[in-house]
Amino acid sequence: MKFFPTFVLLALASSCAFASDPSPLQDFCVAVNDPNSAVFVNGKFCKDPKLAMADDFFFTKFRYPGNTSNQLGSKVTTAFVDQFPGLNTLGIAMARLDFAPYGLNPPHIHPRGTEMLAVMEGTLHVGFVTSNQLNNTLFTKVLTKGDVFVFPQGLIHFQLNIGQTNALAFAFLSSQNPGLITIANSVFASKPPINVDVLAKAFQVDNKLINYLQEQNWFDNH
Ligand SMILES: *[C@@H]1O[C@H](CO)[C@@H](O)[C@H](O)[C@H]1NC(C)=O
Ligand SMILES: *[C@@H]1O[C@H](CO)[C@@H](O)[C@H](O)[C@H]1NC(C)=O
Repeated sequence: MKFFPTFVLLALASSCAFASDPSPLQDFCVAVNDPNSAVFVNGKFCKDPKLAMADDFFFTKFRYPGNTSNQLGSKVTTAFVDQFPGLNTLGIAMARLDFAPYGLNPPHIHPRGTEMLAVMEGTLHVGFVTSNQLNNTLFTKVLTKGDVFVFPQGLIHFQLNIGQTNALAFAFLSSQNPGLITIANSVFASKPPINVDVLAKAFQVDNKLINYLQEQNWFDNH
């Protein structure tokens, strides 16, 4: 009996430390844009479950390659809850990643999801960087068809097509709404812009270089 409260505390602590999306509490909660709908869960209104149908759980936007004719040479097509309402409350999401030869999915973070990446075609140089506590260590690999790599939640990661052919990969994420922070876009293209002195000092460069970077067109490949 004496140890019971300690055990409960430990269980609570670990459930907080390892929390992902909350448990659904029902079979599903297909998201709808209808404020008159009776149920509201996780920021979305639920469709009346009796009115749900197979189409609510069906997604076809991965059928065709994304358009990689852009400055990065890559396109990410997401199946997050905003594009796929049937995912609401289910704690999972996907993305299709298309790369032109030498195309890049630039350094970015998913604040709410761990990502597994499976390569279907081509050769990708991928990596992530650990947090300051682990000395900002870079882990990289070259992936070919059939290979899988995992990017832990919240860490900066990237994928570069190092082959002369197109590359195709699918990502699986441990949240219905993993979020996306593209590092360069967040830092150099915030609206309004971050004070030049802040960035010049942070990156140890002169203000002119920061001005130059802030004037660039920071493309979002999503
Ligand atoms: C791909 O995007 C480019 C640049 O926006 C555009 O010019 C081109 O028409 C698009 N191609 C297709 C097949 O949609
Ligand atoms: C990080 O660097 C410090 C200082 O060099 C070292 O003592 C520590 O062991 C390193 N930690 C890891 C996880 O590599």
